[in-house]
Amino acid sequence: MSYRTLDGVAVAGKRVLLRADLNVPVRDGRISDLTRIERLCPTIRELSEKGARVIVLSHFDRPKGKRVPGMSLVPMAGALGEVLGRKVRFAEDCVGVPAQQVIETMYNGDVAVLENTRFHAGEEKNDRAFSAELAELGDMFVNDAFSAAHRAHASTEGVAHLLPSYAGRLMQAELEALTAALTSPVRPVMAIVGGSKVSTKLDLLGNLVDKVDVLVIGGAMANTFLAAEGIAVGRSLEERDLHATALGIVARAKSSGCTILLPVDAMVASALAPGVATRLVSIGEVPADQMILDVGPKTVAEIVAVLATARTLVWNGPVGAFETAPFDAGTTAIAKAVAAATTAGKLRSIGGGGDTVSALKHAGVLEQISYVSSAGGAFLEWLEGKILPGVAVLEG
Ligand code: 3PG
Ligand code: MG
Repeated sequence: MSYRTLDGVAVAGKRVLLRADLNVPVRDGRISDLTRIERLCPTIRELSEKGARVIVLSHFDRPKGKRVPGMSLVPMAGALGEVLGRKVRFAEDCVGVPAQQVIETMYNGDVAVLENTRFHAGEEKNDRAFSAELAELGDMFVNDAFSAAHRAHASTEGVAHLLPSYAGRLMQAELEALTAALTSPVRPVMAIVGGSKVSTKLDLLGNLVDKVDVLVIGGAMANTFLAAEGIAVGRSLEERDLHATALGIVARAKSSGCTILLPVDAMVASALAPGVATRLVSIGEVPADQMILDVGPKTVAEIVAVLATARTLVWNGPVGAFETAPFDAGTTAIAKAVAAATTAGKLRSIGGGGDTVSALKHAGVLEQISYVSSAGGAFLEWLEGKILPGVAVLEG
């Protein structure tokens, strides 16, 4: 797939509508993680330095078409100004007179943020008239919100049909990393998929077994695969109604030459709680009153051995209940091995999804991974092999 980038595009004096993802995590009214804002800055700086008037569009949270005061982009515009180290203007609405008034008084190189696009019902409906109102504000459209590209909304998809449109540098970086991971990877390719539920990752597992050479399944979702094979998992979290589905995935893997690795040992406890008494057991010997909460050291060693031969890794989801010590041990050990192989130049590693990013941070290796996606849902849909509407519209 090829898409239009900013290479060679003349932007001086142009009003550039830049779709960003300012949907940043907020805790107690404060932005708790600036990653998405920081990653947006290269595109803004490039456009501004080339003399564009940069008009940033974004959603925040899910106000469902209404103006919800607590969901304003005012704090994000402030944070963007701080990270950029320059003045960023703000318009109280993303269309109509308030937006026009701010844009009319912008000089070349200026940056403005328009209020939350989801304050208008037309945004999520991908309404044509609303898209046209947005398009009126700009001469061209640049999408830098890969993390919102799974949504076919007016500001991610609709407006791109109405203006010359391009991928921003962050969008481009995400697409390059993801393409290198699954579309045309250096083999062998390994995937690690964890998390609690098979049900939320069925399409993802189905797509991966067709594409990767080795698929490691960890986390509580591994329990469903073990139980499906008739292995007792005690009181572990598992999805009984998905046993047939799990066996279907195993069969599909076999026929497409993908090796599935399931845990061979586990850390178990009677409950998921800090300071609880733990035991290390082999899979097949999980006591009836215990639950699997992390992979054991033999499993980690098997995974690390495969990592040593892999050239590409895609990781989504922790292999244990990493938020509660000591059940972070397995995920952290694997993360460190991934980081070491990547740093040594032997592995290209790509991770994504909220929990995965937290787990990599917790292991202290976030900076050593080849590429960590800033996307959650979009990263998952991409791993599922779906076409993201916000990307498809930039093709050409
Ligand atoms: C995200 O944070 O995953 C994106 O900004 C998309 O948000 P949404 O799930 O509310 O569409
Ligand atoms: Mg989301």
